[in-house]
Amino acid sequence: MDDVRVPKHVAIIMDGNGRWAKKRGLPRKMGHVEGCKVVERTVEDAARLGIKYLTVYAFSTENWKRSEEEVDALMQLFRYYTKRLLKIAGENNVRVKMIGERSRFAPDIIDGINKLETTTANNTRMTFVIAVNYGSRDEIRRSVTRMLADCQAGVISAAEVSEERISSYLDTAGIPDPDLLIRTSGEERLSNFLLWQLAYSEFYFTDVLWPDFRKEELVKAIEMYNSRERRYGDAKG
Ligand code: IPE
Ligand code: IPE
Ligand code: MG
Repeated sequence: MDDVRVPKHVAIIMDGNGRWAKKRGLPRKMGHVEGCKVVERTVEDAARLGIKYLTVYAFSTENWKRSEEEVDALMQLFRYYTKRLLKIAGENNVRVKMIGERSRFAPDIIDGINKLETTTANNTRMTFVIAVNYGSRDEIRRSVTRMLADCQAGVISAAEVSEERISSYLDTAGIPDPDLLIRTSGEERLSNFLLWQLAYSEFYFTDVLWPDFRKEELVKAIEMYNSRERRYGDAKG
């Protein structure tokens, strides 16, 4: 990893927990339990590598379609991890921020999220963004609703709707766009993740299932990122 540019913002679609469990004859829930341990390790690895922003997709607006049993198991894990992350974030000087629509969660989970965000707000080494009940189209819908309300109230005018202004209404306001997107488990689609923010990101797909994801795979993704030439529409070479 000498002489490589470390991307400032890495986003990850953590996929394959269910298949990992199935391969072992375990209930899907156990894949999520194992996946959470990998999240913990990845936060520490990313901070050590010098990544400034790490965003993970933990639960989509579409994931409510899963069985009650699986959704309940995921909620239990969020409940536990909002507490556990207080410790991890504190030890690693990491600021935690949640994106997505949190009002659908149980009140104690919402309290846990709020506490985690306020307690870690002044940490500076890395920002860890967790997308929960997140869907990019839902995020855009919510932003447009707020923007229209601000227009009506005279806070902004239609002429002021620039790309920057739109970004400032999204859940990711103030966070730079991801430089690198990683998706595990061999699927090659966005599944409603950061549609606006990923406009110019590099994509890295791997067959590794999320519970098997290790630092070596993260380093491989960063090395691939270094080998690519980002053009942003310009004509070079
Ligand atoms: C990703 O793993 C975790 C969540 C979506 C919550 P999956 O649960 O989607 O695992 P597969 O895709 O079924 O293997
Ligand atoms: C995307 O994975 C959502 C998360 C990783 C949280 P899914 O497994 O839900 O996506 P699809 O169903 O394969 O598109
Ligand atoms: Mg999946």
